[in-house]
Amino acid sequence: MKKFKFIDLFSGIGGFHQAMEQLGGTCVFASDIDKYAIESYEENYNINSDINVRDIRVEDIPEHDVLCAGFPCQTFSKAGKQKGFNDETKGTLFFEIERILEHHKTKYIVLENVRNLVSHDKGNTWKTIYNHLKELGYRLTPEPLILSPHQLGVPQLRERVVILGIYDPGHRDDDLRISFKELKSLKTKDENSIYDIIETDKVDDKYYITEREKYVLTAWDNFYKGINEKVLGFPVWFDWFKKKPEVDMPDWKKEFIKKNNNLYKNNKEFIDQWSKQYNNLKDFTPTQRKFEWQAGEAIDTLWEGLIQIRPSGVRVKKPTCFPALVALVQIPIIGRYQRRLTVREAARLQSFPDSFIPNSNDQQAYKQFGNAVNVDVIKTAAAALFNYDE
Ligand SMILES: C[S@@+](CC[C@H](N)C(=O)[O-])C[C@H]1O[C@@H](n2cnc3c(N)ncnc32)[C@H](O)[C@@H]1O
Repeated sequence: MKKFKFIDLFSGIGGFHQAMEQLGGTCVFASDIDKYAIESYEENYNINSDINVRDIRVEDIPEHDVLCAGFPCQTFSKAGKQKGFNDETKGTLFFEIERILEHHKTKYIVLENVRNLVSHDKGNTWKTIYNHLKELGYRLTPEPLILSPHQLGVPQLRERVVILGIYDPGHRDDDLRISFKELKSLKTKDENSIYDIIETDKVDDKYYITEREKYVLTAWDNFYKGINEKVLGFPVWFDWFKKKPEVDMPDWKKEFIKKNNNLYKNNKEFIDQWSKQYNNLKDFTPTQRKFEWQAGEAIDTLWEGLIQIRPSGVRVKKPTCFPALVALVQIPIIGRYQRRLTVREAARLQSFPDSFIPNSNDQQAYKQFGNAVNVDVIKTAAAALFNYDE
């Protein structure tokens, strides 16, 4: 397709919009209910997206070739199965998509959802969606397609389901044979590098870790370098080095504590000297007293890792791939630069171009990118759909 028109439902900050525009599309309608998302959409695309999907009158939507929607995953009514087709989805946001498709018979659909959609409600959710779209006249892939930005060389592990369909009532029973597995360029997690999206110049001061954080992280770095075990496959719990597990603890916890007891026993001299140096971690918070090394032997210092300060402790991972950017509470720290991921880098993880203007409130911006679809994922999926010619 050279030029086409699309609509963007649950439009957020326009991950679909970006992808469709790059493929030659023009947006003719968008819908969202979040104040900040609506503001960002207007600012970036000059389109007012302020309408609840439930309030849309189908006749008010202009003619279009592609319907895009990253809709919430909801359980469908079981009662519907006896009552008849429509009752099954009524009340859900998927029903709103159905309502629009019923009227417009849109040629192409590109829907996105969390990975869990496949197994949601024991597979019934996917089955219901599949049956309903088919009933409307769409050719679909027999299985939902799963794709993650890391497979396309964007260092974020974020598996999402993409549902692709072509309106073709006469051939609705012919499966679409689209599979991302055939894409030659698909990469593994370890073939990525977080440095591909990193801003190399100095960034705003607010992103750099505090002196206090530096102190805590240095302590654990020294710990890691000092012990004689390099591939720790269990969490290190400072408070459990010398204490035995309690009888009523679950087995997994007892197991971890025994490993901590052994770690201490095997490194007693070093650990005693280390804890003395850091005053027995007395001024560390409970979270800071725990440490998880998940980088294997790929790196030998925490400062070359990807660090997350989580309730379960200070976690260090290989600098290959970021975890999924979801409403990020704990923004990951890039060890080498001693700072957190910037808003621009969060945008890049979602393959938004640098020309995109993020919300001026960082928390809102991280949240919006966390909610968005990855632009490259949608672009790849939609291109496969538009070029499909069987
Ligand atoms: C997972 S996000 C989708 C983000 C979008 N695909 C993007 O790339 O930014 C879901 C969006 O649906 C919006 N939403 C939820 N209920 C809605 C409704 N009834 N009508 C319109 N938008 C809705 C939320 O505000 C949120 O922005």
